[in-house]
Amino acid sequence: MDIENILNKAKKKLKNFDIASSQIDSEILLADAINKDRKYLILNLKSQIKGNYIKKFNNLIKRRSKGEPVAYLTKKKEFWKETFYVNNNVLIPRPDTEIIVDTVLKLFPKNSKLQMLDIGTGSGCILLSILKERPNFYGIGIDISKGSINVCKYNTQLFNLSNRVKFFNSDVDNFILGKYDLITSNPAYIDLQSIKYLKRDVVNFEPKLALNGGLDGFSQIRKVIDKAAILIKKNGKLILEIGFNQKNKVGEMLKEKKFYVNQVLKDYGNNYRCVISTKI
Ligand SMILES: C[S@@+](CC[C@H](N)C(=O)[O-])C[C@H]1O[C@@H](n2cnc3c(N)ncnc32)[C@H](O)[C@@H]1O
Repeated sequence: MDIENILNKAKKKLKNFDIASSQIDSEILLADAINKDRKYLILNLKSQIKGNYIKKFNNLIKRRSKGEPVAYLTKKKEFWKETFYVNNNVLIPRPDTEIIVDTVLKLFPKNSKLQMLDIGTGSGCILLSILKERPNFYGIGIDISKGSINVCKYNTQLFNLSNRVKFFNSDVDNFILGKYDLITSNPAYIDLQSIKYLKRDVVNFEPKLALNGGLDGFSQIRKVIDKAAILIKKNGKLILEIGFNQKNKVGEMLKEKKFYVNQVLKDYGNNYRCVISTKI
């Protein structure tokens, strides 16, 4: 069968399963199955594909039709300027989280030298993207999930950052190592009630640890702020990602722990998403 026919068939199947991104998902998965890029598919629509590749592709389409995210099927996700290895132990990095990276790069010039900590590091996307851009930054990432730390270590090797970063498998509550000029975190911030209303791709496949912000959605944010207040240096910066409706309460929590809120930035959907604060 040729590429055009294979793609049309897959697109139809995904549409029948209510996958809105049926076209692009089919293209990404076929490109992945035959180890080419999407450009190759578009330029070679009449090329014939061998049976074993079609079998591999059909298996990916079957899994996608059940909601499994494309990033878990291809084991990769673009974030900032790199392609991260991901698996179902880590949250798939989101474009909105790039705001944290962008903010840090605007706050600290290229030659600045500092120690940073990333709490709930997941795939390591925030920490590793920043270290890649700032050659004199040294970083520690922590996560309660052992699977996440394994993914971070793999990404560290991919990006040649082993000499400037360490990862610890630790609950934020138990972590007591070091003092930091900069702390970043995208904690789990979805309240328990809302989790079941997330898209099935998210709720059925992404790690609950990465989503569950407890009864009110603030339990992980609170832990991060409390621990950051202890581990951060005076005048150090804490940059946090928050939920769209959490700005005011997080502002109060930060003030209680003697952080000054410099700015709250909006995301691409016009929701408050990123809090910049300074320890006073
Ligand atoms: C929303 S995800 C963010 C992952 C990554 N930083 C990102 O932005 O894509 C939150 C992460 O916090 C971790 N986590 C949850 N509870 C934690 C805790 N008590 N201590 C440390 N990490 C925790 C989860 O395993 C998950 O990787």
